[in-house]
This record gives sequence, C-alpha cells and structure tokens, in this order.
Amino acid sequence: MKLEIIQGDITKMEVDVIVNAANCTLLGGGGVDGAIHRAAGKELLAECMTLGGCRTGEAKMTRGYKLPAKWIIHTPGPRWRGGKHGEPELLRNSYANSLRLAAEAGCRTIAFPSISTGVYRFPLADAEKISVETILNFPENTSLETAYMVCFDPVTLQAYEDAHMTLKSFE
Ligand code: APR
Repeated sequence: MKLEIIQGDITKMEVDVIVNAANCTLLGGGGVDGAIHRAAGKELLAECMTLGGCRTGEAKMTRGYKLPAKWIIHTPGPRWRGGKHGEPELLRNSYANSLRLAAEAGCRTIAFPSISTGVYRFPLADAEKISVETILNFPENTSLETAYMVCFDPVTLQAYEDAHMTLKSFE
C-alpha cells in the first residue's frame, strides 16, 4: 500500500474512509473528533450512540454522512502515561484495526490523522514511527491501495515525512 504524507483537514478528504482519533465513549470531543462530528452532522452522533463505546486500540465503523468520505472508522488511541502502560502496542492496534476494518469493507483509500499525538500527548517522535511502520507493513493482498497521513500542522507534517523517508530508505 502506498503512503502519502500530506498537510490538511481530514474532514475534507475525498477518500473511501477517514479515521477518527476518538475517545472510548465514541460520543465526540475536541480536536479531530470534534471536527469530524461537526462536519459529518448530528446523524453521526446518533449512529455512534448505538455502538456502545469502543476499547482503546479497537475500532468501529460508521457512515460518513455529510463528509466527502463514505465511511468513518473511530478508534480511541492510548493516552500517554509515560510509555510503560502498553501505549506503543495500543497505538499500533489502533492503526492495524482501522486498516483491517477498511480492508474488510473493500475500501481502496483511507486517511488517518496523527492518532494520540494531540490531547492524548503521545510523543510525536514515537507515534510517527509506529504509524508509518504499521501502515507500510499491512498485508498487500487487500483492497487498500493508498493511505494518507493527514497532518494538521507543519511540525507534525515534518515529523511524518522524516519517519517515512527513514523507513523507505530501509526498503
Ligand atoms: N484534520 C486532521 N488532523 C487534525 C484535525 C483535522 N481537522 N484537527 C486536529 N487534528 C490533529 C491534531 O493536530 C493532532 O495532530 O489530530 C491529531 C490528534 O489530536 P487530537 O484530535 O487531540 O486526538 P488525540 O490526541 O488522539 O486525543 C483524543 O481528544 O478530541 C478528543 O474526543 C477526543 O478524547 C479524545 C482525545
């Protein structure tokens, strides 16, 4: 699967599915979660209320409603607690479970935000490696063709571009 690192607003992405950095209630919040709920409209919250929440690192799928994207995958990433509480594994699970759900739904294109590196304070330098590695190591024999990492600011963009360059140089 191809990985494109771009700067932008994930709610504008014209892809099959966008991923939401949610919390375990799946009932909305601030950051990208708030932006996605605002852009998708209130029907999204209505569907989320039927899902019964979601455990950290797991993922659940809803329709995209008013978004250009057909679907939304909601995954609560880990809150950073120093790195000794399974945070890296949980973040890896968030990316892997989102990719798995997207592939099962036959999606060809998927857009991610930088999960957990905002309110949840996961260090960017660690999160970028985990996400780029998980995306690039996802099995090739699925419907997924292109993944976009949609960075909201230049600092995040630079961090992901560096990680992507480093990993590609090992290919
Ligand atoms: N498009 C793309 N990325 C965005 C957007 C957007 N419209 N808005 C924010 N971001 C970026 C942030 O700049 C950050 O790099 O998404 C990344 C993740 O930050 P948060 O949204 O704070 O998510 P996270 O750190 O995973 O914390 C999740 O915050 O919003 C609440 O309900 C959410 O409780 C949950 C927690």
